Amino acid sequence: MLWQAECKFFSLTETPEDYTIIVDEEGFLELPSSEHLSVADATWLALNVVSGGGSFSSSQPIGVTKIAKSVIAPLADQNISVFMLSTYQTDFILIRERDLPFVMHTLAAEFTILRVVNGETVAADDFGITNGFVKPKLVQRPVIHPLSSPSNMFCVTSLDPDTLPTVATLLMDVMFYSNGVKDTVVGSEDSGHIRFFSFSLIEGYISLVMDVQTQQRFPNNLLFTSASGELWKMVRIGGQPLGFDECGIVAQISEPLAASDIPAYYISTFKFDHALVPEENINGVINALQVSQAEKH
Ligand code: ARG
Repeated sequence: MLWQAECKFFSLTETPEDYTIIVDEEGFLELPSSEHLSVADATWLALNVVSGGGSFSSSQPIGVTKIAKSVIAPLADQNISVFMLSTYQTDFILIRERDLPFVMHTLAAEFTILRVVNGETVAADDFGITNGFVKPKLVQRPVIHPLSSPSNMFCVTSLDPDTLPTVATLLMDVMFYSNGVKDTVVGSEDSGHIRFFSFSLIEGYISLVMDVQTQQRFPNNLLFTSASGELWKMVRIGGQPLGFDECGIVAQISEPLAASDIPAYYISTFKFDHALVPEENINGVINALQVSQAEKH
């Protein structure tokens, strides 16, 4: 099928409020136009950090914790808005295409930036920004938006693309036809169980983030989990929809996690952000973030 051949970046995340779709331009052209589809402004580019395979890579914390200091904080310091998508395999940092020169300039000291154009990896153009940015003085970054923590336990899994057909109907059912769990109001401190399911197929790699109840509906041994099989709890960020312009939200959450070496996945959706932390850390994380929140006054 054309869609399968052309769309290299597809992600669909279900939350209590909506479905968030992130697709590349090829995939977007295949989407039916609909009055129900809201599209974020501008074109975004997906960056991901490919570690150089240094000898420390195996002991590095996973997820956004690994890139909090080197990528997320510097971009927030330069007021560059990002949109995050962590997957089983990697963490994508989406930035607006027009911000690319600033992003490159900001990250140039730490990274070599490569761009994949039509499948070919090329050195990204130097846009010739020569006057250096003023290095921002270290500022405290209090958590601005309200937080909530649903009761779900999540797992972050992957699937061999060859087995995708065998679970296609199950996936459809899970994502679109399961209303078994009652939705609860967002924003309260203990908002109970929420609907959250994230599927992505990016460059041939599948990632699935789901709660344990949903995981149990899959045939045994089909989903890969990390060897330790850890479970994750979620911090939802946002009371009002967060929009796409505000900067620093991801940094506010991921910097304290990185400082405490707590691994975390981070998934932005159209309205809200979601951080996943190891279940044993959830209380400590919520407390630390709430202390940070109180400090804004
Ligand atoms: N732009 C925010 C930041 O730079 C993260 C995304 C929030 N917005 C959203 N719709 N999820 O930290």
